Amino acid sequence: MKDHVFIPAKSVLFVCLGNICRSPIAEGVFRNLARKSNALSALRIDSAGLGSWHVGQPPDRRAQEAVAGHGIDIADLRARQVTRDDFEAFDLILAMDKANRQGLLKLAARQHHDKIRLLMDCAPNFGVHEIPDPFFGDKDGFDYVVQLIEAACRGLARSLTPPKTVCLQHGGSAQVQSMAPASRPLAPLNG
Ligand code: 4NP
Repeated sequence: MKDHVFIPAKSVLFVCLGNICRSPIAEGVFRNLARKSNALSALRIDSAGLGSWHVGQPPDRRAQEAVAGHGIDIADLRARQVTRDDFEAFDLILAMDKANRQGLLKLAARQHHDKIRLLMDCAPNFGVHEIPDPFFGDKDGFDYVVQLIEAACRGLARSLTPPKTVCLQHGGSAQVQSMAPASRPLAPLNG
């Protein structure tokens, strides 16, 4: 089994092309997981698109419906375009597919390249590396996207949590300790 990879990230930006399908789904799914584990207030979570066509628009109706079935409401989100400031502001920038990742790498200064990853890197056992663009597809495509994003966001949530080590003390009582957080560099998610 893989070692727990701890990513000391406090802010996460999900990025796709239009910011009306995949990345708002990822934002909603990850916010929901963070809320359930009481980590929401400690994290900055956002999404953006590489393109500007849909700026100001709510998520695609099919995206809203696909997550509504999981008890997640993303109706209030509004599309925005990635800005250069995002590369300073976020610790981790997660692209939905390789073309999105390439687009981000082109925009970002080299010192920020390490923080730009594929979201599916967070679910290495899934065997799928990209989240396909569902925009020109049907409802099944959106449901599949939600399935992939849920698996990846669960992995992401685990990677943001410091691993616990159990130390046996004198007298046999067990004490759980967190490993040191911010001292480790950002490790490759699927490395
Ligand atoms: P997204 O999907 O990148 O997952 O938001 C798309 C939305 C709109 C377009 C392409 C992809 N478009 O070409 O308008």
